[in-house]
Amino acid sequence: MNAEGLGLRGIRVRFGDREVLHGVDVTVATGELLAVLGANGSGKSTLLRAAAGLVPVSGGEIRVGGRDGRSARTEVAMVFQQIHLVRRRSALDNVCAGALGRLPLRSSLVPALFPREVREEAMACLDRVGLADRAHDRAGSLSGGQQQRVAVARALCQRATVVLADEPVSALDPAAAEQVLALLAELAHAESLAVLAVLHQPDLAHRHADRIVGLRDGRVVLDGAPATIGGVDALYPADARVLTEAAS
Ligand SMILES: Nc1ncnc2c1ncn2[C@@H]1O[C@H](COP(=O)(O)OP(=O)(O)OP(=O)(O)O)[C@@H](O)[C@H]1O
Ligand SMILES: [Mg+2]
Repeated sequence: MNAEGLGLRGIRVRFGDREVLHGVDVTVATGELLAVLGANGSGKSTLLRAAAGLVPVSGGEIRVGGRDGRSARTEVAMVFQQIHLVRRRSALDNVCAGALGRLPLRSSLVPALFPREVREEAMACLDRVGLADRAHDRAGSLSGGQQQRVAVARALCQRATVVLADEPVSALDPAAAEQVLALLAELAHAESLAVLAVLHQPDLAHRHADRIVGLRDGRVVLDGAPATIGGVDALYPADARVLTEAAS
């Protein structure tokens, strides 16, 4: 059993007087890709945002590498469906930006001042995701799948130990989605990262994830290895299933 990379224990989140996460327990080991599945509104994004410290929790505990998550924020990187790259800057500059948390302030004001060792590390991260040859292209000129790989390289350059990915492949074509998920799984295994990815495609989760957690109405209702977890029908409202079955 690998060490705990990310530990979410009894997480509760409320918006106003409405509680949307009712005590969620999820652990992601180092070297593991965990997929989170669940219907719209089941609380997946809220769980990721809570894990990243972007929304306050009203109960529970967040542990990163066995430590209090509040003291380990720079170890947690996020990768979004809407890729947050600076489109007019190069892929390399975007990856260098991952290192900003450990650089002096002037580097963040004048990106051209990224120190050479950061640029070299960023180049190695781009190489890791298969994009070294596009390092000097503007991020905005890359395809969606390539931009998503730049976002993953930026997380590597941040030296994150935990990567939280919210629907990282929803905007990608099927081949690019496979490629990005295979990359996330490979990096989890090879770099001992704890990767938690929200997906809307159960088949992708079954193919690439080491473990699947299912959320329903703010509660964990499934948790297991893809081979043992069986179907995920219980996660999705029955009327929606009838519609998809009728359409296929
Ligand atoms: N900032 C907010 N203020 C109030 N309610 C919110 C806020 N963010 C999320 N919610 C509510 O919390 C619940 C869970 O939302 P969340 O975005 O986590 O769902 P999700 O599982 O990511 O859904 P989707 O698959 O549509 O992305 C929803 O009912 C949503 O309306
Ligand atoms: Mg969401």
